[in-house]
Amino acid sequence: MATTATTQTRPRGGEPGRGYGETWAKAILMGEHSVVYGYPAVAVPLKTLKMRAWASSTGRSGRNTLRALGYYGPMLQAPAQFGGLMRAIQVAKDFAGCCECGFDIITRSDFPAGRGLGSSAAASGAVIRAVLDACGIKAGAAQLAALTNEAETVTHGHPSGLDTVTTSGQHPVLFTHGDMRRVSVNTPAYLVIADSGVAGSTKEAVDGVRGQYEHDRLRVAPILKDLGALAQQSAEDLKQGGLDSLGLRMDAAHRLLSELHVSHPIVDALVRAARSRGALGAKLTGGGLGGCIIALAPDVLSAQRIRHALLAAGAPSAWVHPLNQLDVEVANDASVEFDRIPERYDCAGPLPSAGACFVAGTDADADAIDAAFRG
Ligand code: MEV
Repeated sequence: MATTATTQTRPRGGEPGRGYGETWAKAILMGEHSVVYGYPAVAVPLKTLKMRAWASSTGRSGRNTLRALGYYGPMLQAPAQFGGLMRAIQVAKDFAGCCECGFDIITRSDFPAGRGLGSSAAASGAVIRAVLDACGIKAGAAQLAALTNEAETVTHGHPSGLDTVTTSGQHPVLFTHGDMRRVSVNTPAYLVIADSGVAGSTKEAVDGVRGQYEHDRLRVAPILKDLGALAQQSAEDLKQGGLDSLGLRMDAAHRLLSELHVSHPIVDALVRAARSRGALGAKLTGGGLGGCIIALAPDVLSAQRIRHALLAAGAPSAWVHPLNQLDVEVANDASVEFDRIPERYDCAGPLPSAGACFVAGTDADADAIDAAFRG
């Protein structure tokens, strides 16, 4: 997709400095997989689960390093699964007109990767914002989305674009064919999101559904259509405050997704645990094959009860998210002046040995990254 800069705060050819970018996790309430076939989907930004990125110029030396999502080392030696992130850095540099610039890139995430919470789109989106910020380049929301989708295409093949818009969006949205409408939530309602601890590859899941669609269209096409209808109706449920019917639709969607073979025994067990503890409905969220579940609760006390039940059932992490939260303004566009990189991140400092590996997302890992940065 072609993208062009509209305004620049630093002339092309000027020296880049340091930049910061921020996005967040997302949960798909309804319509994962069917959205790839053009059906509607409803997704919710999880703005408390942040993805942060810092970009620090290494000048025109071409030295590029990456400390992101568990990898720590030279960009060129990053494993294949970082292809999307590398593309994100490249498209941001192209957009900024500084293809020859090198950057040290760091990401820090409040949520695990490979769990259907949009970490690839969130990481690419945050890194793109950080590189543009470092180059003093402004971009609009549509341009940022187009750049992020280019990276997502490397990661997922044929992304619907839903993850890209929700990991930088402000409100729940009904997404159809790239068209986005805000979904109003006219009732107190809480989502409990729980990690199964099993990493699932969205690309593998999407390719698997594609294979079934091509070889068994008579069975698969009606499932996708029904998932799309459930998504459309769930937007109406949220508007009307129909939480009981929304819960039933979530249960129905989980059954249909299981028929597409994108669930997992541990995910199914968590879904059962949530329902037995009073969830109005529960289902997998995102690509599946592991990943996370979401459960619906009518109030914060039941949400906390369900969250504890899910942790007791073996979920390594679980979060409660209010669906009708009041708007919170978060800087989300490269045209906004982002917080600068904290001083303690000495991005230009010496690197520890390449290939050292940290799993992102915990305080211990964050400390380890800090220590490594200090040499
Ligand atoms: C992944 O979070 C959602 C999927 O529908 C893929 C996509 O929308 O690109 C499985």
